[in-house]
Amino acid sequence: MTSLLMCLCCVLLELMAVHSRVLMQSRIVGGHTAAPNSIRYLVSLKSTSGQHFCGGSLVHRYWVLTAAHCNIGAEQMMIVAGDYKVNIFEGTEQYAKPRILVIHPLYNRSTNNADIMLIKLRAPMVLNKYVSLAPLPRQGTGVAEGHVCRVSGWGYNSLEGGQVPVTLRTVTVPIVSTARCNSSDSFNGNITANMICAGYSTGGKDACKGDSGGPLVCDRRIYGVVSWGNGCGDAKFPGVYTAVSRFRRWIDQTIYGSYLRCFKPWR
Ligand SMILES: *[C@@H]1O[C@H](CO)[C@@H](O)[C@H](O)[C@H]1NC(C)=O
Ligand SMILES: *[C@@H]1O[C@H](CO)[C@@H](O)[C@H](O)[C@H]1NC(C)=O
Ligand SMILES: *[C@@H]1O[C@H](CO)[C@@H](O)[C@H](O)[C@H]1NC(C)=O
Repeated sequence: MTSLLMCLCCVLLELMAVHSRVLMQSRIVGGHTAAPNSIRYLVSLKSTSGQHFCGGSLVHRYWVLTAAHCNIGAEQMMIVAGDYKVNIFEGTEQYAKPRILVIHPLYNRSTNNADIMLIKLRAPMVLNKYVSLAPLPRQGTGVAEGHVCRVSGWGYNSLEGGQVPVTLRTVTVPIVSTARCNSSDSFNGNITANMICAGYSTGGKDACKGDSGGPLVCDRRIYGVVSWGNGCGDAKFPGVYTAVSRFRRWIDQTIYGSYLRCFKPWR
């Protein structure tokens, strides 16, 4: 009995650790509602009970890009594309279960380094008016400080209960230099080369809990994956994103490398 309870506790703690963002506000902070199906590559990661817990981006009909800390186990997950109001069936949704989760080998849950994961779906999503593929940046490309990008998500807080329709929200945030983000005035040495920061020096606009795994889009490409922070919309602490351009090669190798391996016997 004790061990079962302890085990349940562990599972709860694990689930709480999954949301590395501090609980302050529950949605995209300071943004506005997105137009219906305007961000067609955005997917919702839901638990098998239907709770939205993370965002993601469809990068291939079979593959979703998200954060490694969104890993709650393939068996516990459902991927929903074509969603707008996250807890209402609108007829535009497509559902797929994960086949495999590929967590980046350098992912470190205590430092949040390499917080990136690819999910291979059991069945491909169908591309249509509501579902599209996300364009990725080239390996090693950067975004200049001050460049304004856009982060979107459902930022759904499971503690609020599942009854109210939760509509997709979006907000623009400028890139903050790594030097400033990593300074003693901010994250004080905790920013690695695999992270980029974005937020206003006045705070007030940010991603938040439940937006994790979702896209930070600059010049129409997914340069960031919502990863972590210190509170949400705090002037001193911008949002921290996984720098997708550092992982472009890994993404391609993961997605296309497996196909190449599959075809090998034919050569
Ligand atoms: C994660 O990073 C910490 C701090 O650098 C290090 O001590 C630890 O060994 C790392 N863990 C893994 C699993 O790499
Ligand atoms: C930086 O990381 C250290 C060690 O993980 C932690 O104690 C500290 O609070 C962090 N500081 C900030 C500003 O994130
Ligand atoms: C952030 O600061 C720490 C401590 O000074 C340093 O080790 C690390 O390399 C810095 N990160 C980047 C991306 O420069």
